[in-house]
Amino acid sequence: MKKTTSTTSAASDIQRRGPVTPVDTNSIPAAGIPAQPTHRDVKPGAGPVGPGERSTVRLREAGPDDPPRYAPDWLELREGADAAARAVELLVPLRNRLAEQPGKPGGHVIHDLGCGTGSMGRWLAPRLDGAQHWVLHDRDPYLLHFAAVASPRAAADGSHVTVETRRGDVARLTSDALAGASLVTASALLDVLTREEVDALATASAGAGCPALLTLSVAGRVEFGTPDPLDGDLADAFNAHQRRAGLLGPDAVTAACEAFDERGATVRVHPSAWRLGPVEAPLAAEWLRGWVAAAVEERPALKSRADAYLTERLEACAAGELLVQVHHSDLLALPGPMGGTTS
Ligand SMILES: C[S@@+](CC[C@H](N)C(=O)[O-])C[C@H]1O[C@@H](n2cnc3c(N)ncnc32)[C@H](O)[C@@H]1O
Repeated sequence: MKKTTSTTSAASDIQRRGPVTPVDTNSIPAAGIPAQPTHRDVKPGAGPVGPGERSTVRLREAGPDDPPRYAPDWLELREGADAAARAVELLVPLRNRLAEQPGKPGGHVIHDLGCGTGSMGRWLAPRLDGAQHWVLHDRDPYLLHFAAVASPRAAADGSHVTVETRRGDVARLTSDALAGASLVTASALLDVLTREEVDALATASAGAGCPALLTLSVAGRVEFGTPDPLDGDLADAFNAHQRRAGLLGPDAVTAACEAFDERGATVRVHPSAWRLGPVEAPLAAEWLRGWVAAAVEERPALKSRADAYLTERLEACAAGELLVQVHHSDLLALPGPMGGTTS
């Protein structure tokens, strides 16, 4: 079954986001070509984040209060590294918990929040047994279209997987909207939410009484194979940029742990770093541009040193010599009487 429904509008969320800098290109610069970072390189998500990110496509004239848009080609570029990074260790307790749930006629009902083009479903659906119905939530109808078209078809045991899409603001989801859910997932979402939004998400998820698998939240740490004295300043400036307008950025996992713990869930956290080398050079180059651009936008005094730094790093990337770990965390919250956070 495929069906696209429109639920809430993102208007109130837009008002809270503050100004963004929409851009009408969705091309990604070729890897290895040194380029000075610009506001166009700043992107939200588990990587470069900020209000001036590359937009997807101009569906209509963008206003200053429009929320951040995510380029499908950026999401596609990172999908392989995301898949390799995801913490498979969390799948064992998740599968156990799903197996304990009473069976539903259509199988597991899984709500993926901020689904983008649907990479979470493409990764997880074939790793879970049994029929599944995925409800894909995003505020961007363009990305929802991609997600529906490229949705997963089969579970690990060959059972059928179906999908529907829902357009709306996931920060305003209630437990009613999640009624009957077997699982809530999100990927690269928590760090672009506020504390209040994560609390609301935890309330909705706990109210629905289902587990939550919330993956690939930025941890705020980056490690290069060849360290540079500027790495720390750039990382600090980037993290500060992520926290703009009250967004959680690198504080997202701690906030989510607290939120789920307070609601009686058992929370597990596992690292899920991108490990980027020569094979991932196009992603590494694009990520680097965004990381440096956000840092400079946050701290303009870094600009001349950051420009030279970026040129050097991109040259290393083009030569297949750049190694970098971009740290993320995955979180599994299992509802139940036992509270507490373990890692
Ligand atoms: C970094 S992308 C991650 C997309 C996808 N989960 C993935 O891992 O590739 C964040 C996604 O969350 C969506 N998003 C962010 N805030 C949202 C909100 N408040 N309501 C609905 N969708 C939101 C964006 O439109 C985007 O698709």
